[in-house]
Amino acid sequence: MNVFDFRKMKKAREKITMLTCYDYWSAQILSETQIEMLLVGDSSAMVMHGFESTLNADLIMLQYHVAAVKRGAPKKFIVTDLPFLSYRKSISENMGAVEILMKAGANAVKLEGIQGNESLVEHIVKSGVPVMGHLGLTPQFVHQLGGYKVQGRSLDEAKLIEKDALLLQDLGAFSLVLECVPEKLATHLSALLEIPTIGIGAGSGTDGQVLVLHDMLGLQKNVQMQFVRRFLDGHQLIAEAVQKYIVEVKEKTFPSALETFY
Ligand code: KIV
Repeated sequence: MNVFDFRKMKKAREKITMLTCYDYWSAQILSETQIEMLLVGDSSAMVMHGFESTLNADLIMLQYHVAAVKRGAPKKFIVTDLPFLSYRKSISENMGAVEILMKAGANAVKLEGIQGNESLVEHIVKSGVPVMGHLGLTPQFVHQLGGYKVQGRSLDEAKLIEKDALLLQDLGAFSLVLECVPEKLATHLSALLEIPTIGIGAGSGTDGQVLVLHDMLGLQKNVQMQFVRRFLDGHQLIAEAVQKYIVEVKEKTFPSALETFY
């Protein structure tokens, strides 16, 4: 898969599928599926490291996750987030961050918002690095947004998101994540833009969908967002398997003769 394939899929009205992926073993599993894009998101700070928000993701954290995912799924198209503030510094520091993540194995970088990042996006794209935009609910702005809320409900907000989306496309972004926006707005933007839109909490009118892997696998017991469907009760299944192991060790039925060297 490459950036042209995603455009072709949009034209053919074939939905693009994307999931987050942060480590080697899950990358190996996803590499055996038909998933088209993997996202090494800054949500790894929350999901993998237990932080309260994505603001704790940093370059080293994402570099390690990208490299592990690349080893597990070398043929998949890997997008990674530029972590909080890593692209709000000098141009040489910003490009240093891009370089580290691309050399770790990413195929593209994603950044949140566009206001104030216009020349950077252009520079990254002109340097040969595909850029994915991210508008709507942008979690790196959580303190400015006053929490994790649906964005673009008012006409003024929707118009601003539309303006930013068109700007990202003009600056050369190859795709755009729309997070937590009303379906009507996401559907409108998907029809307006030539680049594919990938929705999360944005209804069914986007060109593709992305979810956090751990959410859709039900691995986090107390996390349940309205826009997430649990395709598995992973937490329960893993807890049951571990409990079974404990019982069998205690009962001395594990290891058996078959699992023993003589
Ligand atoms: O980091 C992440 O998981 C994301 C998705 C919510 C799109 O950016």
